[in-house]
Amino acid sequence: MSQTLTLRRPDDWHLHLRDGAMLEAVLPESARHFGRAIIMPNLVPPVVTGADARAYRTRIMEAMPTGACFTPLMTLYLTEDTDPADVAAAHRAGLISAVKLYPAGATTNSHSGVRDFDKVRGVLEKMAEIGLTLCVHGEVTDPAVDIFDREAVFIDRVLDPVRRKTPGLRVVMEHVTTSEGIAYARAGGDDLAATITTHHLVINRNHILAGGIRPHYYCLPVAKRETHRLALREAATSGEARFFLGTDSAPHPDHLKEHPCGCAGCFTATNTMSILAHVFEEEGALDRLERFASLNGAAFYGLPPAETTVTLEKRAEPCAYPAKIETGAGTVTVFDPGFPLYWAFKD
Ligand code: DOR
Ligand code: ZN
Repeated sequence: MSQTLTLRRPDDWHLHLRDGAMLEAVLPESARHFGRAIIMPNLVPPVVTGADARAYRTRIMEAMPTGACFTPLMTLYLTEDTDPADVAAAHRAGLISAVKLYPAGATTNSHSGVRDFDKVRGVLEKMAEIGLTLCVHGEVTDPAVDIFDREAVFIDRVLDPVRRKTPGLRVVMEHVTTSEGIAYARAGGDDLAATITTHHLVINRNHILAGGIRPHYYCLPVAKRETHRLALREAATSGEARFFLGTDSAPHPDHLKEHPCGCAGCFTATNTMSILAHVFEEEGALDRLERFASLNGAAFYGLPPAETTVTLEKRAEPCAYPAKIETGAGTVTVFDPGFPLYWAFKD
């Protein structure tokens, strides 16, 4: 008899769906595996107001494959001009689940993000008051700081001061990549959590740089050294409520990844659940995959767990995944974990 694993339908607490032709092509990949996802607002132009979020949600629902059971949870992109009253109204209307903080210049389409954190104090205070979560891209942009240190420095220079000044602010440290990030998340109370991506559980910086440069492993925050990857695996598989899945699945067409100045992002929506089952099995923690992928995130966001389940089945032969997805906006390479996958997601 083949081994199977049944868990509550997972959610993705950090996802890039893009817009237009790319949205149409990648949405089915997430909708097939996940019940809900926190949708990143870094479009061009970004999703800044409640009205923008409403319009973007409509476009997502129009692109939804027939029969899909997938709820996009919308976010607003925090700018220095964001109006606290607009944020509060969008929250009251049930339009948004979080606000996303990008330090200006930290990553893809982040130039409208925050330079001066004092300018967003009013919004953060309003969010603390109404219990709305701030999702944080935690990297400093100071060119003097080494790219591999930018997460750890952000915690000291920005995140900790902001949290001290704004008691009660609910914060998700998005895509943590370092042992410092894990330790900081653990030192917080119930108002602090961290998402971990699939790819950061399986690659370290050697995968990007040793033996040739591999642009499809380049993302932000960039993968760090092996000790950090091991810290992430320990945290993800610990079952602790503060750690949950946010894939950061971020499609870019190949011609912009395989480029002299390649875009950051790994597209993992297609095989994330198979990779996670592999990782959790390797760590002897298959019984904790449900907490990481299906339970902890919902609890943090104050949502009930999914009522439906999904099943993964361990096959004798590696399962076949498409290496590429054709989209109307170019070909997208599916993340290659570098090892065969035996856990198949059953539709
Ligand atoms: O690798 C990344 N890709 N990191 C981000 O923060 C943004 C994302 C994207 O939008 O492509
Ligand atoms: Zn992201």
